[in-house]
Amino acid sequence: MNAQTLDTIVRLIYLLAAAGFVFGLHQMNSPATARNGNLLSAGGMALAVIATVLLLASGSGGVSSTAWLIIGLGILIGGGLGLYTARTVKMTAMPQLVSLFNAVGGGAAALIAIDDYIRLSSGGDVSELRSLQFTIPTVLDVIIGCVTFTGSLVASGKLQGLIPGKPIVVPGGRIITFGVAAVAAIGALYLFAGNVSVPVLFLIIAAGLIFGITMVLPIGGADMPVVISLLNSFTGTAVAMAGFVIGSNVLIIAGALVGASGAILTKLMANAMNRSVLNIIAGGFGGGEGTVGETARGSGGSVREVSADDVAIQLAYASKVIVVPGYGLAVAQAQHQVRELAELLESRGVVVEYAIHPVAGRMPGHMNVLLAEASVPYPQLKEMDEINPEFPRADVALVVGANDVTNPAARSNPGSPIYGMPILDVDQAKSVVVIKRSMGRGYAGIDNELYTNPKTGMLFADAKEGLASLVAAVKAV
Ligand code: TAP
Repeated sequence: MNAQTLDTIVRLIYLLAAAGFVFGLHQMNSPATARNGNLLSAGGMALAVIATVLLLASGSGGVSSTAWLIIGLGILIGGGLGLYTARTVKMTAMPQLVSLFNAVGGGAAALIAIDDYIRLSSGGDVSELRSLQFTIPTVLDVIIGCVTFTGSLVASGKLQGLIPGKPIVVPGGRIITFGVAAVAAIGALYLFAGNVSVPVLFLIIAAGLIFGITMVLPIGGADMPVVISLLNSFTGTAVAMAGFVIGSNVLIIAGALVGASGAILTKLMANAMNRSVLNIIAGGFGGGEGTVGETARGSGGSVREVSADDVAIQLAYASKVIVVPGYGLAVAQAQHQVRELAELLESRGVVVEYAIHPVAGRMPGHMNVLLAEASVPYPQLKEMDEINPEFPRADVALVVGANDVTNPAARSNPGSPIYGMPILDVDQAKSVVVIKRSMGRGYAGIDNELYTNPKTGMLFADAKEGLASLVAAVKAV
């Protein structure tokens, strides 16, 4: 096969791969098709890798046998580690894994530009290095990739508990952040002006790496999911820039898709929490995870404690029950127990639906993924706008480990840090049962007046144990 035919075939495969990314992303619109979408996008990526290997193999002696060995080992080790961690990771540890993947993505994108720059600058003709067409994507790739690399490592460390989750104030941190940003900007302008200098590129690299650390350290651990989504968008942008540097259309397309979808997700998450991305980066609520055992009793109103047997009777004789899952359900891994209870109630003729708040839990789609894992039928999962009008018709709203997303203060108390955050109108149900371990607060660290509402009964238990005792009690009714 001559070089031109091969080039055309490779381009066609790249086009197919890009179509796989786009259609795969589109299928992620709905939980019912998301798994297929993931496979389609992964298939697109596999095609792109195969086509690139084909292109390399056809080059006349361009790739040495050592380089092939390194590529092969890279695919084996990287692919193997990726597969192993993705299959064994716990659902609650997913955000830190995504963050680690962001770190390697951003770092790899930066390395492409760094390698290209050093290689070209050590060759005889450096004219390409003087053109803005080359220096702009190179410098942007290096800066964004380096910021993403260290920023994502810090974010992952915070969520894993390796670094304290609370905001860490580095003395003079702001000055350092502005200082390194200035160094990166001046270095970039120097290279844009047509100068060729590897030491200046290294200065920019160092500035980017330091900026990533000083940007993420002062942000509270609980805000990390939004930061991770933002860094994910940065990874995509860095990859797209790497595509411009080495002239790879498939990298540009894949990077642009990740960059754009990451940016949209960041905005959606911030909106669903009624906060701006800037407000999150600058730090606001979300400095901690809320202190377990902190009490809302002091806020006035008394709490009505109920037993599993009381709740079982309420549930068994209801016509409609709406389950409201939250972060506590995810931590307790109680998705199977909630499905079991729902099936038991349905077998008694009770209509059961799940109310899914966009930021229930700690990562986008947290509840959908968990409930899908337990084979809860998709049609029972109702988005906030769809389920809110249903609450007045529900005999029982069963809140399992959810707190902030049910807090009426978001509607009624302009002084509350969550005021304006859209919530699930749980308090409109005829009666409410809340399963949680204590009067502990949620992510926003505030009291929830739902718990002192006269129609609310509190079943103090771990979500998994509480649901299991409800299953047993309903069976006995
Ligand atoms: P939270 O408000 O965080 O409340 C979770 C509740 O679960 C806590 O009050 C806790 O009370 C209870 N809990 C913890 N472990 C439990 C266990 N083993 N069994 C039973 N209950 C347990 O959760 P939410 O209502 O899902 O709200 C999510 C919050 O996270 C929102 O403020 C949202 O803005 C924020 N956030 C979400 C995201 C995304 S994308 N989902 C991203 C960033 C921030 P006890 O200690 O008393 O048990």
